[in-house]
Amino acid sequence: MKDIVEALEKKRQDARLGGGQKRIDAQHAKGKLTARERVALLLDEGSFEEWDMFVEHRSHDFGMENQRIPGDGVVTGWGTINGRVIYVFSKDFTVFGGSLSRAHAEKIVKVQQAAMKNGAPLIGLFDAGGARIQEGVEALGGYADIFLENVLASGVIPQISVIMGPCAGGDVYSPAMTDFIFMVKDTSYMYVTGPDVVKTVTNEIVTHEELGGARVHAQKSGVVDGSYENDIETLTQMRRLVGFLPLSNREKPPTVPTFDDPERAEPSLDSLVPANPNTPYDMKELIQKVADEGDFFEIGKDFGKNIITGFGRMEGSTVGFVANQPMSLAGVLDIDASRKAARFVRFCDCFNIPIITFVDVPGFMPGTKQEYGGLIKHGAKLLFAYAEATVPKVTVITRKAYGGAYDVMSSKHLRGDVNFAWPTAEIAVMGAKGAVEIIFRADIGDAEKIAARTAEYQSRFANPYVAASRGFIDDVIMPHNTRKRIVRSLRTLKNKQLSNPQKKHDNIPL
Ligand code: HXC
Repeated sequence: MKDIVEALEKKRQDARLGGGQKRIDAQHAKGKLTARERVALLLDEGSFEEWDMFVEHRSHDFGMENQRIPGDGVVTGWGTINGRVIYVFSKDFTVFGGSLSRAHAEKIVKVQQAAMKNGAPLIGLFDAGGARIQEGVEALGGYADIFLENVLASGVIPQISVIMGPCAGGDVYSPAMTDFIFMVKDTSYMYVTGPDVVKTVTNEIVTHEELGGARVHAQKSGVVDGSYENDIETLTQMRRLVGFLPLSNREKPPTVPTFDDPERAEPSLDSLVPANPNTPYDMKELIQKVADEGDFFEIGKDFGKNIITGFGRMEGSTVGFVANQPMSLAGVLDIDASRKAARFVRFCDCFNIPIITFVDVPGFMPGTKQEYGGLIKHGAKLLFAYAEATVPKVTVITRKAYGGAYDVMSSKHLRGDVNFAWPTAEIAVMGAKGAVEIIFRADIGDAEKIAARTAEYQSRFANPYVAASRGFIDDVIMPHNTRKRIVRSLRTLKNKQLSNPQKKHDNIPL
């Protein structure tokens, strides 16, 4: 019996070595952790239960029959994060470059299906060279099996992808269908086709970093939701993110104990909005002053900065914050901001997370670049997302709410549950200057007349009271009481019931 137990332990030790010590050293030399080291850091200490450690590929081509490594390039199983069950797979670059064989794909599908069945999030850690070239179409089929599970799981369990090395070819599309993607700076890159193919097809010469590095995707393409300095920081942040999320769509958002007084007044908010309507201020300050203990996990920090999205807590329970950011492009809604916020709103709605919206928006971004890029369709995504969302929605207009953007930003008309405005709010079709130049075009040469008309328009419309008189705003509130008023509103919405008409699915403008 002792021999048998020892034989098992030996088999396990061999499997844990993956592609061998030399390749593990090479991985470390690149500043990367191994697949198992990453899993150990991501999950609670000692909680990981590995599955399919002895699975091997079944290929007989190109000498592969002589190269079978237990685990076959991916570590799979489950564990806990702060005691809550999480399923995980972690690509092992030391084994055939983490490339995907049929057997490797089957391992991933197994944890995908278990996560779905048991209602627990799935986190995938990527570090791989794409399809196992020696396997051909078997690998392609394996990818498609994974993609299908990603789609079926979308909106049922949170799915998070973390890119921690190469992620190319077939490997990019599974992350793309998950809820969030994060990258590690300098050691990871993500693209459909690599620099060599790019050069052959388009004659462009680019590096891995220029084509698909963390900065490119976090700032330019918006493909990823954030990037961090190294493996350890990235995995620590993933643990933090998971703390905000329900385990599945069957659950309410998690609640954690908080010592932050729900009625806490914040006098500094009374002077947050500057006297000059064109002077910016930092909307993040409002989020941090309203959220429990100022704890805010931002999603998409470096992309579409004119809108802020992320998770916080109110009275210990997760909420999603969406807020125009006057510090960037005056908080205007453009293509990037609309896409980013629409996806975030939809995530919150899938997972029963109430949405708190802070509004200071001068409208949609004008110009050919935006129109040629399809602003109409992209802006409509955010409108659509807010309108269809049935989770509790609380809105606070701090300053500008102009034009169509007023409608879009969780207005009463799109089933906003509680809509507040600060006394500094200006809810109007447009700013006073622009309005006067249109309706009094004949007076444009007469500066005095224009100034008088502008002042008249300003005092008539640049306030929250016209909207409040129509019931579009439920109350005009003191800025220092914002936290208290939101908390009290959310309490009334705890048992909110609202559903959309029966349909197969909607047809959001993609
Ligand atoms: C089999 C692979 C592999 C692959 C890497 N390896 N990629 N084995 N299939 N796709 C192996 C290498 O042979 C090597 O083995 C080890 O992994 C490490 O690779 P290196 O090239 O030495 O590492 P590095 O220099 O860091 O370069 C990493 C890399 C490069 C940029 C990812 O390996 C690479 O370009 N790989 C191929 C990428 C690719 O074209 N994949 C197919 C995409 S097509 P040894 O034994 O020497 O250590 C695709 C289509 C699917 O995915 C579509 C489905 C929808």
